[in-house]
Amino acid sequence: MGHNKEIDHVTGVETTGHVWDGDLKELNKPLPRWWLYTFYATIVWAIGYWIAYPAWPLVNGYTKGMLGYSQRQEVMREVADGKAAQAQFRSEVEKMALADIAKNPEVLRFATASGAAAFATNCAPCHGRGAQGAKSYPNLNDDDWLWGGSLDAIAQTITHGVRSDDAETRSSAMPRFGLDQVLDQKQISDTAEFVLSLAGKSTDQEAATRGAAIFAENCVVCHGEKGAGNQELGAPNLTDAIWLYGGAKEDLIQSIATGRGGIMPQWHTRLDPVTIKTLAVYVHGLGGGK
Ligand code: HEC
Ligand code: HEC
Repeated sequence: MGHNKEIDHVTGVETTGHVWDGDLKELNKPLPRWWLYTFYATIVWAIGYWIAYPAWPLVNGYTKGMLGYSQRQEVMREVADGKAAQAQFRSEVEKMALADIAKNPEVLRFATASGAAAFATNCAPCHGRGAQGAKSYPNLNDDDWLWGGSLDAIAQTITHGVRSDDAETRSSAMPRFGLDQVLDQKQISDTAEFVLSLAGKSTDQEAATRGAAIFAENCVVCHGEKGAGNQELGAPNLTDAIWLYGGAKEDLIQSIATGRGGIMPQWHTRLDPVTIKTLAVYVHGLGGGK
């Protein structure tokens, strides 16, 4: 490697004298000035930053910087702000009637979000993550309600439950027509056939006709003349295609024989009133609310 700074004949630029592989020569092209000044400026900036902000790790801790900035404090402040805002909203929810919450977009948004969170923890195990329900557990998204889909009806169901051990539980129950031998197997089968006919699914017209008489005598008190149900009694509509326990003939026979008697726990013993209100708002807002 020599020090003769010859001029490269192709570009006319001076070389640094560094040569590789015999004829590969390095041209002497210094960095542009603007680039150098920018580079120096970043060094000055970095030093200023080290002085102002926490920067260098030390054996015990780190340089704190002169501005006293701390991300931890920043986060603490944000968390505190968030908590204050939440407390504010919670007290609004506490004071407001359910119907008024539904009319206040900001409080409604808060209530729906916290209701969704409480639902995921407490209700999803039975009703499903999206409240879509499952066999024996009602879907809460549709507008088919056992006990009513108004805000107050929903809040009442959540607070006291259904056939729970709460003193104010919703309690009406379907008789166990088979287990208690109110009807025999053939009568139950005929009634099931009639229930199938309500949804246009009967394949045995004679049995359905016999079942109609049994239905009129034993079932209309709760399910209504036409089988459309009664929310006062939690008696499902038997004419829609929505079944809590299944709509096949075996399912219907089972429902009639056992009365089912699904249990929804009461929640006022486990959740505070504000959380229950947010749950009612959330469930009501799922799409089927009335
Ligand atoms: C242990 C299972 C279980 C859990 C947990 C549960 N539910 Fe239920 N829920 C039921 C059952 C079963 C029914 C149907 C009761 C019946 O047969 O009338 C029901 C009914 C309901 C209804 C009435 C639906 C209608 O059509 O009228 C609402 C509303 C409801 N649940 C909301 C909730 C909310 C909100 C939570 C969480 C706080 C919750 N449930 C937790 C089992 C559960
Ligand atoms: C005392 C009121 C009452 C009487 C009488 C009654 N039911 Fe019910 N029925 C209910 C209730 C309440 C339920 C809901 C049970 C539950 O949620 O676990 C129900 C549920 C059912 C179901 C299940 C519906 C579904 O969605 O899966 C069928 C089917 C049914 N009843 C048919 C009958 C027939 C048929 C009779 C007459 C032989 C009858 N019921 C008499 C109250 C009654």
